[in-house]
Amino acid sequence: MRIAVYGTRSYDRRFLTAANAAHGFELSFLDAPLSPATALLAQGHEAACVFVNDVADRAALEVLAEGGVQLLALRCAGYNNVDLAAAEALGIAVVRVPAYSPHAVSEFTIGLLLALDRRIHRAWSRVRENNFALDGLVGRNLHGRVAGVVGTGQIGALVARALRAGFGCEVLASDPVVDAGLEAIGVRYVEREVLLREAEIVTLHCPLTPGTRHLIDARVLAAARPGLVIVNTSRGALIDTAALIEALKQRRIGGVALDVYEQEAGVFFDDLSSEIVEDDVLQRLLTFPNVLMTGHQAFLTEEALTAIGETTLRSVADFAAGRSLPNRITPEQVRPA
Ligand code: NAI
Repeated sequence: MRIAVYGTRSYDRRFLTAANAAHGFELSFLDAPLSPATALLAQGHEAACVFVNDVADRAALEVLAEGGVQLLALRCAGYNNVDLAAAEALGIAVVRVPAYSPHAVSEFTIGLLLALDRRIHRAWSRVRENNFALDGLVGRNLHGRVAGVVGTGQIGALVARALRAGFGCEVLASDPVVDAGLEAIGVRYVEREVLLREAEIVTLHCPLTPGTRHLIDARVLAAARPGLVIVNTSRGALIDTAALIEALKQRRIGGVALDVYEQEAGVFFDDLSSEIVEDDVLQRLLTFPNVLMTGHQAFLTEEALTAIGETTLRSVADFAAGRSLPNRITPEQVRPA
């Protein structure tokens, strides 16, 4: 099997090459992300491997299919960037890595929350300049606060558990599927509206679907508790960024920690420190003292990258051998929630 690996970074090369020792596939590492314009690069490959910001829309998939690609292997969990119906119509099977390390993302989420809430990132930049003053660094205890977890799947459940059992928060949860284990430790399932109105901290862990797009919008922000802290390590478009900026300007938001951003494609994963970044919304977000951003980094642990490499190539091996694909994702699985 020949696999065109789009949007390759040093860590992708390292961990996919290590996982490939068990398979011996021909891996073509491409710097370019997948788009309709770059899909031609996969010509002659049976599989294409993509990540979160590659654009696998109908136009790109058509070119991939014409070039011989029969399998699209997502080296990530989310699949909102893939036109699954088009893939199916073109005879391209789509597989993903449903869970490579929920711990990686959940631990990073807690890290972001603590850093934001206790001003650790600001303290570090001060101390490096020998500024040891504490003014402006007053934080809040997590203990006793009301935290709302939207989506208690693999990642959200770990976050809810850490907040409830570890920090002693009052935890509200919203998910069409109730986790009885979480209820047993005192996590309370409520309607999403109630959660978003009552929580002092909201952390997002549901997938991006038509039903969850902009689940935090102007209306939700207006009804939320003053000083709300928002953490998003799921997908950027769960939040209406323009509405968030407006609420931040009105000083109604306590803080925001984002590992994902609505328009992150074409910006995240690249070093743009010497470039003029044209995204004014992103640039405005970065000016707020109570906004902490990272560039889609929550998954980035040795354990997760090892699991991603192994699961991705196991799916390719299953496909090549004509076996069933346990990690296959089909249009039927994307139901508006
Ligand atoms: P999961 O599939 O285990 O859990 C998602 C949960 O969301 C499920 O329990 C589902 O029932 C629930 N859900 C669906 N619609 C909902 C709605 N309308 N309201 C509330 N809950 C809803 O997925 P997992 O592994 O926990 O990942 C969650 C998300 O995290 C992924 O969709 C992905 O976008 C994101 N992610 C981000 C990473 C990063 O590096 N920042 C890395 C991995 C995943």
